[in-house]
Amino acid sequence: MATWSNLNLQNSASPLMEQIIFFHDHTLIILLMITILVGYIMFNLFFNKFINRLLLEGQMIELIWTILPAITLIFIAIPSLRLLYLLDELNNPLITLKSIGHQWYWSYEYSDFNDVEFDSYMTPVITMTPNNFRLLDVDNRIILPMNNQIRIMVTATDVIHSWTVPALGVKVDANPGRLNQTNFFINRPGIFYGQCSEICGANHSFMPIVIEVFHLNFINEYM
Ligand code: CUA
Repeated sequence: MATWSNLNLQNSASPLMEQIIFFHDHTLIILLMITILVGYIMFNLFFNKFINRLLLEGQMIELIWTILPAITLIFIAIPSLRLLYLLDELNNPLITLKSIGHQWYWSYEYSDFNDVEFDSYMTPVITMTPNNFRLLDVDNRIILPMNNQIRIMVTATDVIHSWTVPALGVKVDANPGRLNQTNFFINRPGIFYGQCSEICGANHSFMPIVIEVFHLNFINEYM
């Protein structure tokens, strides 16, 4: 989860989020190179005494500063497309979780089982225990197994919400009258926090998401 003064992305809990972080760092390095180059050129433009009274056109330099950025963009576009298609790839999920956005809470359905559905409300500050995180904990958590492909269906009943869990690299809009799908593969156990990220009304900030992730062997020990 995000902790105090963490300005970077959260640590990933899924291979897809890992790829997203790699792409973010890759793009940031390119951005840094551009900033340094442009900064250096501007610095030199300001601090020299050259003049060019008779300048009308410069075909060659215009060719260079058109083609160079175009090539640079390709180095961002290709990995971006790779990531886009990677995020959409779903094969043979173990379970499907349906998450429904309401004003202002999430409800969940484990569609593979009969009648497994529940609401997930934020824990109010007055009922918090020292173990709770303010504005981030809920009364009923989602429970999912690690090391398995998981499908999630997202929808809403009233306005647009967004089911967003940064550590898993998941951010899907929940639209009324429409069913969105995404997938993730959680590769470590733990508790992962998310929040609605579509401005959905007065209590938009108060509909967090909590996922409890366990190893499947855990079940065998208790059965
Ligand atoms: Cu639901 Cu913002």
